Amino acid sequence: MLGLQASLKDHDESRQGEALVLDGADVKHNRKLFIESYGCAMNFSDSEIVASIMSDMGFSTTSDYKEADVIFINTCSIRDNAEQRVRNRLKEFSAAKVKNPGITIGVLGCMAERLKSKFLEEEKLVDLVIGPDAYRDLPNLIGQVDDGNRAVNVLLSREETYADISPVRLNTNGISAFISIMRGCDNMCSFCVVPFTRGRERSRDPQSIVREAEELFNKGYREVTLLGQNVDSYKYPGAEAKEVNDESPSGYGQTVNFARLLELVANINPELRVRFSTSHPKDITDEVLYTMARHENICKHIHLPVQSGNSRILEMMNRTYTREWYIDRVDAIRRIMPECGISTDIIIGFCSETEEEHQETLSMMEYVKYDFAYMFTYSERPGTLAAKRYPDDIPEEVKKRRFNEILAKQQECSSIRLEQRVGKTFKVLIERNSKKSATDFSGKSDQNTTVVFPADNKSRPGDYVHVLIEKCTPATLIGKIVG
Ligand code: 5AD
Ligand code: SF4
Repeated sequence: MLGLQASLKDHDESRQGEALVLDGADVKHNRKLFIESYGCAMNFSDSEIVASIMSDMGFSTTSDYKEADVIFINTCSIRDNAEQRVRNRLKEFSAAKVKNPGITIGVLGCMAERLKSKFLEEEKLVDLVIGPDAYRDLPNLIGQVDDGNRAVNVLLSREETYADISPVRLNTNGISAFISIMRGCDNMCSFCVVPFTRGRERSRDPQSIVREAEELFNKGYREVTLLGQNVDSYKYPGAEAKEVNDESPSGYGQTVNFARLLELVANINPELRVRFSTSHPKDITDEVLYTMARHENICKHIHLPVQSGNSRILEMMNRTYTREWYIDRVDAIRRIMPECGISTDIIIGFCSETEEEHQETLSMMEYVKYDFAYMFTYSERPGTLAAKRYPDDIPEEVKKRRFNEILAKQQECSSIRLEQRVGKTFKVLIERNSKKSATDFSGKSDQNTTVVFPADNKSRPGDYVHVLIEKCTPATLIGKIVG
């Protein structure tokens, strides 16, 4: 029995661990792994790859770190408070290790990559530090720790996509799953630590992506989310690429771009919903929008981080688009898919941001009327372009006040969007029984809004139903099954 813990929900999935012989020596069997993930969906997806590699080494897993032989924490560096949360959690794990020195504690992911072996100096009870491109080296590193050493591998790769590793699904409802389609980021937004912690951008072989989606569908999954830091720049070379002389490395003739990949996954089965994240305003093409419009099963929702509504700040952020460009992309989405949901990320109080520039972010929100937004006050990250070039000069209380203004505006936008949907009917994929009432189902509309409605005795999680929306709360649509 495999039961892995991630930070949000408990999970249980059956899978038999296999014995593995390394260098002629039997790896210890029946050891237990606990893994906890922080940060973005990509990190949660990476933990599923790690769980797969550990399972192949004979590790069974536990949702209680107190009974684990190996504790892994998959970390996020995006903002300082994300790192602080990890440090606090590590204190708890270290206390467990003081009681039981045989435990192995491993730090994975972006903080491991950012701090490298410094982590071992700072956190005396950590045994293993491993970056996001080095997970294949886990058998070797666990072996080093078993031999009484501390182990580090933070090498970044230009090729690694873990294409052949079949993830062990964690936190799963058996209906929705993430599929990583690319890794790294080449954008160098000035505030962002990701290009340093996750390395250069590389796209995964489209055949392996389609295969993974097909396997999920055959197991009963009904929704896949294609993940990348910037999915619009997905590109896998085809036969025409000069550097390639065999027939067709993409397996599909020509170069596969993101629009083509979306189409390939959407064509697997009309009952399989396709979502994706994250889009970049500079790269999202009309071709992608028309592909979405053509396929009923590609969900009409785009996460399009704006970061700021002011062109000077966008330039300092190195986002490589202007306010006008962003508005043009939103207009194109509305023209091609009038019902499309749009969500965003906003950074508040970036270096030198004036009141007028902050007002332009508010007016952008007013224009787009985002369905949903992730809002963050700017947090300076060591080593980034912004940290090198610009002082973090907006006082904390100003950042806080602007944050509250942005939050209030977003609450206004969300409720306008929800109220617009009252009286309409939406196709909903049932995900689970509602948290609040066992007699209600909870699912998602195409636009990614949570919909709650009374269960009937014909339907169950994984089914599609049509729901007439009768009312809404601040974040949920409420209705009843029709037809
Ligand atoms: N400070 C605040 N927010 C940040 N983000 C990325 N880096 C920072 C930072 N240094 C936000 C951006 C990005 C999201 C994933 O996190 O809005 O889109
Ligand atoms: Fe960071 Fe920008 Fe890349 Fe997103 S696109 S991961 S914000 S550098």
